[in-house]
Amino acid sequence: MINAVGLQNPGLEATIREELPKLRKVFHKPVMANISGFSIEEYRTVAARLDQEDGIGWLEINVSCPNVHGGGMSFGTSPASAAEVTAAVKAVTTKPVIMKLSPNVTDIAAIAKACEDAGADGISLINTLLGMRIDLKTRRPVIANKMGGFSGPAIFPVALRMVYQAASAVKIPVIGMGGVSTAEDVIEMMLAGATAVGVGAANLIDPFACPRILDTLPAVMDRYGIENLNSVIGGALDG
Ligand SMILES: Cc1cc2nc3c(=O)[nH]c(=O)nc-3n(C[C@H](O)[C@H](O)[C@H](O)COP(=O)(O)O)c2cc1C
Repeated sequence: MINAVGLQNPGLEATIREELPKLRKVFHKPVMANISGFSIEEYRTVAARLDQEDGIGWLEINVSCPNVHGGGMSFGTSPASAAEVTAAVKAVTTKPVIMKLSPNVTDIAAIAKACEDAGADGISLINTLLGMRIDLKTRRPVIANKMGGFSGPAIFPVALRMVYQAASAVKIPVIGMGGVSTAEDVIEMMLAGATAVGVGAANLIDPFACPRILDTLPAVMDRYGIENLNSVIGGALDG
């Protein structure tokens, strides 16, 4: 799928006042807060405020946002700016900080390593690729924004490759995502170095994608002779 929903959300205070209590009613474990910002200061402010919320287990920092004060390039496209965001957030929170990396870069390993060196507790990847389609009848881009975030099963090989490269470069845990829709995909991601796996677009195709993946996982593990999932983490990495 290609989406252009942007990073719509009700804002920091409304999320704490309204969304977190709603989540607490149906989900009884700590939640992850995904943070976006258009400046280092915004990342810092939001992280410091969310740090005070008990129900939030860890912070995931989306560095795919454009740096409006620094030339408009996304924070996640250079090791130096990804490290700057990491250090700024780490300085204002005691919660684990997971840096969510953009795939729209040439050297994902360098960016992953920069985040680790700046104190990240983990990394997650990949965010959406930049994609586009053109309507043959109107001869105009299908999406009014022209381009959008490309995700779902089609991006799985790219995501897997980037998880493999990032996991080879760092020692901190890696959360693998991008196109995961089956239990086999989960195991492949873990072999590439992921200690946990995320599912996005598949939930929009089938709201029961996650329970289905979990239900089928034991049979798939049996088929490949896997007794303990931890044993496959990084199994395809060299050394
Ligand atoms: C509709 C939609 C909204 C998303 N919003 C966010 C977001 O707010 N922050 C973020 O870090 N990633 C966001 N993502 C990216 C996903 O978390 C995920 O990294 C990406 O879609 C690749 O995984 P998938 O192929 O399983 O969807 C969004 C993806 C979709 C499809």
